[in-house]
Amino acid sequence: MASEQMTLAAYLEAWSAGDASRQEVSATILEMAKASAELSALVAEGPFVRGLAKTIGDAGGGDVKKFLDVEAHKLFKAALQNAPVAAIGSEEADNAEILNEKAPLVVAIDPLDGSSNIETNVSIGTIFSVLPVAEGMSPDEALLQAGNAQVASGFVLYGPQTTLVMTVRDGTQLFTMSPKDRVFRLTRANLQISPNKAEYAINASNERHWPKPVQTYMRELNAGTAGARQRDFNMRWVGSLVAEAYRILIRGGIFLYPGDSRPGYEAGRLRLVYEAIPLALLMTEAGGAASDGTRAILDIKPDDLHQRIPLVFGPPDEVRRIEYYFQVPPVEQDSPLFSDRGLLRD
Ligand code: F6P
Ligand code: MN
Repeated sequence: MASEQMTLAAYLEAWSAGDASRQEVSATILEMAKASAELSALVAEGPFVRGLAKTIGDAGGGDVKKFLDVEAHKLFKAALQNAPVAAIGSEEADNAEILNEKAPLVVAIDPLDGSSNIETNVSIGTIFSVLPVAEGMSPDEALLQAGNAQVASGFVLYGPQTTLVMTVRDGTQLFTMSPKDRVFRLTRANLQISPNKAEYAINASNERHWPKPVQTYMRELNAGTAGARQRDFNMRWVGSLVAEAYRILIRGGIFLYPGDSRPGYEAGRLRLVYEAIPLALLMTEAGGAASDGTRAILDIKPDDLHQRIPLVFGPPDEVRRIEYYFQVPPVEQDSPLFSDRGLLRD
């Protein structure tokens, strides 16, 4: 059954036929897919790999470095040596690392997202963004381009199934790794985010720290049928960005990790270059949207490889609604217009 479905290699071959630049992108994605199949096997070994979830450092801002984070980084770095990639900018290295200096592409990567979940056997993943090196650009500059410049992005989810969600800017495609031969096959073409799923993902324990517009928006969702939205919303928080992104691509809903008033969380917790930017392209290609509350993520030019960014993604109407609250002055949000029986009912 599985063997009837198109492989990732066949999909990329068809997409890149006769186009040298596309073939470079394809080669890069295939190398990362190979590395992710290896990482998937390592993740599945769990406690049989000694020290798998062992903490080996503190990357600050709530990010702890684990043994498997470092192994994942090494695997992808080694794989990309075999691809036309000038540099890799990874969550696990302070600076971009040069691979094949004159090569036409760079890759930004979170080698193991959600690694705080390793010991709990919850889905974790790898997020990547592929960017071109334009004429006269250094690899460092190439990594700091706005997300609109991406030629491809994706993430691999190591869950009950190992899946690759990927875009070469021709729709968002879902590939599933067949356990028998460890080959990724296309299992859903052209994902489209459902506009109507009444489900949200936010770390609700931070409510008191959120900015006013987020508190207003969330109050509206939690008011359920009695409030402006006139329906009940369900909550899901895995605490693993890749798992939330996958769920939203498959069945809809909204994700928020806003900036908040805790020291070090002013721009939220998530990283712009190798988390928000690649996910924003996948969402956009699936008919969704991604924003920092005021701007489309894909329009933001990063200043630093590791900078954080507030992140909201999901169906465009929902993202617009949150952006609207960021435009309304906070005092107005206390007015009757915003109350449960106010004028802003759906
Ligand atoms: O990469 C950071 C990360 O682990 C994401 O995968 C996840 O969405 C988030 O942090 C969880 O944050 P919190 O610890 O606030 O729930
Ligand atoms: Mn991460």
